[in-house]
Amino acid sequence: MKGFAYLLLAVVALTGVLVYMAHASGHADGEAAPIFGIKIPPGYRDWRLISVAHEEGNLNDLRALLGNDAAIKAYREGKLTFPDGTIIARLAWSYVPSEENNKVFGRAQSFVPGPATNVQFMVKDSRKYAATGGWGFAQFKDGKPAADALLRTCFPCHEPVKARDFVFTHYAP
Ligand code: HEC
Repeated sequence: MKGFAYLLLAVVALTGVLVYMAHASGHADGEAAPIFGIKIPPGYRDWRLISVAHEEGNLNDLRALLGNDAAIKAYREGKLTFPDGTIIARLAWSYVPSEENNKVFGRAQSFVPGPATNVQFMVKDSRKYAATGGWGFAQFKDGKPAADALLRTCFPCHEPVKARDFVFTHYAP
């Protein structure tokens, strides 16, 4: 009977470990994007603001561009090219009217972020990503990385701004 109790305990403990492992591997920032092997950088939501943007058309979103310390330093010093270790994050949300705010203003004028659409990253590593201007590209939606077909479209579209190290966004005054 004692042996059975130990066995039971062992099974319960093992189940716990397996459940934990399954949970940990399915964590939002755990999965790497294809081609460039980039994971969601921890703490990116706390990075400093480079600029904001609004896209119309099919995207119709609100965007925030955030940079890690290396990105912000390079921007402020007006340094081109960006040093290895630079990461620029592009967050985007749908663009929705705020009934709550409009009530206060007395007319329809307020727009706020709705659900997040996706988040994109550009990671500088001049050796690893030599074939794409020194930048690795990644996109995640709800923590899930985009397929490689989409990631192949990133660099060609950023190529026109080669003179600014393939980065479109200027530091907002
Ligand atoms: C159709 C052209 C196009 C494609 C394709 C494209 N981008 Fe961009 N990207 C832009 C433009 C233009 C901006 C600046 C304006 C904006 O943010 O909307 C930008 C901005 C960015 C930024 C902020 C830094 C910067 O250059 O301003 C990141 C990060 C980024 N893109 C990542 C990606 C990733 C990752 C992909 C592929 C999944 C991608 N982009 C595909 C045109 C493109």
